[in-house]
Amino acid sequence: MNKQRLLSGHETELPTSEELRKISEDLVKYRSGVVRILSDGWLYPAITTRYLDRLYNMELRPDDVFVITFPKSGTTWMQEILWVMLRNPDLDPNNEEMKEKLWARSLDVGLDMIFDKYEQAVNDMKSVAEKFSRVCPGKTKEDGMAIQIVESQPSPRVIKSHFPLELHNKDLLQKCKVVYVARNPKDMVVSLYHFLRVVKSGRYQGSLEKFARRVMRREIPYCPYWPHVLQAWRQRDNPNLYFTTYEDMKDDIMGQLRNINKFLGKNLTEEQLKKIAEFTSFSSMKTRGEPIDKAYYNEDVWKKQGGMFRKGIKGDWKNHFSPELNQEMDQWIRDNVKDTGLKFKFGDEFNAVTGTDRESFGDCVGPHGPETRNSNSTYLLDVAKANNVKICWILVPAAKSSPLDLLSQYRRGC
Ligand code: A3P
Repeated sequence: MNKQRLLSGHETELPTSEELRKISEDLVKYRSGVVRILSDGWLYPAITTRYLDRLYNMELRPDDVFVITFPKSGTTWMQEILWVMLRNPDLDPNNEEMKEKLWARSLDVGLDMIFDKYEQAVNDMKSVAEKFSRVCPGKTKEDGMAIQIVESQPSPRVIKSHFPLELHNKDLLQKCKVVYVARNPKDMVVSLYHFLRVVKSGRYQGSLEKFARRVMRREIPYCPYWPHVLQAWRQRDNPNLYFTTYEDMKDDIMGQLRNINKFLGKNLTEEQLKKIAEFTSFSSMKTRGEPIDKAYYNEDVWKKQGGMFRKGIKGDWKNHFSPELNQEMDQWIRDNVKDTGLKFKFGDEFNAVTGTDRESFGDCVGPHGPETRNSNSTYLLDVAKANNVKICWILVPAAKSSPLDLLSQYRRGC
């Protein structure tokens, strides 16, 4: 069947063989088929349509809290924050539910879709398959293990989803609370690239540069990125939606926890929030959360580059992007945020050099000319950080001086 209409009203479309060839070129897993959901053209493994109607029909409870994100935007971090706030705010170590891995307590309703075949899911995600047998006796795996596990969970539930707002039940924002986390697309790309290499269900084989361009061309599953983020951004004043960013969480986690405390209508004390901040810190979550089922990983990539908790920083893109890719991405970002009011932080103020934030910072010139970013400028920034100096702008007439000289020369202007 070439076209199908989903309960959400969206039509699906199978890509042309040429498009499929491009999509599956480096992405081994998706050779068995993908589907686009119109009109934005959301790209998913073909198996996904089987679950979308079920998701649309899933009974919503008034105390459900959804965490919705484009992948690799800080979902797991927010899942753990919400789960702890709602289900174990005193961090009782004897809490029975806490014995389960953190990602499994607030399961991804779309988890089944990342596998081509159920047998693969059962092999790679043994813990999900076992849980399914335990909590959903007599039910059929093929109807979606994750959705049915979520249906069996006690309230209040924290439900993770990577689907855009529009593919959920139309009453979602009337009935439930939604926390949406966005991450700047440059760091998201680096993290998603790693993810699709480290998990067996991805096995991406190309370079990061190529991957990033494929994201911009919407040729990677879960894309397009912009409508996903902008649909939530436009709902930022809806009292049932809390919009935040990975970068804001990194910059001021206590501020975010206070906002979420209010959003959820909890009255947790400052002391409780401080403990939750510590409990959900990167190092603490990495210790508790890794590894997800070992069979899920390509072990060589995992050992060399990390698993789900890779670096947990802002601005890692600077270690990976060429100046050309960076310029292309800046243009892509400018084109898409135009007239929306949405602004991302890209890791540090020196990003002004890339031109992304030119409106706020004015024209900037780096050691190697305008709109460039390179190892010298990154080093200069590191030196600035080590000296506790905030760089707002730098004007450098020549690139001959050492970063330390430059810094002392321009300290007064910083
Ligand atoms: P990196 O790959 O850049 O390290 P998601 O949960 O949406 O898949 O996002 C994964 C990203 O969030 C990864 O980014 C991961 O390291 C980071 N992350 C997970 N837990 C975190 C935490 N407690 N604090 C900061 N970053 C975290």
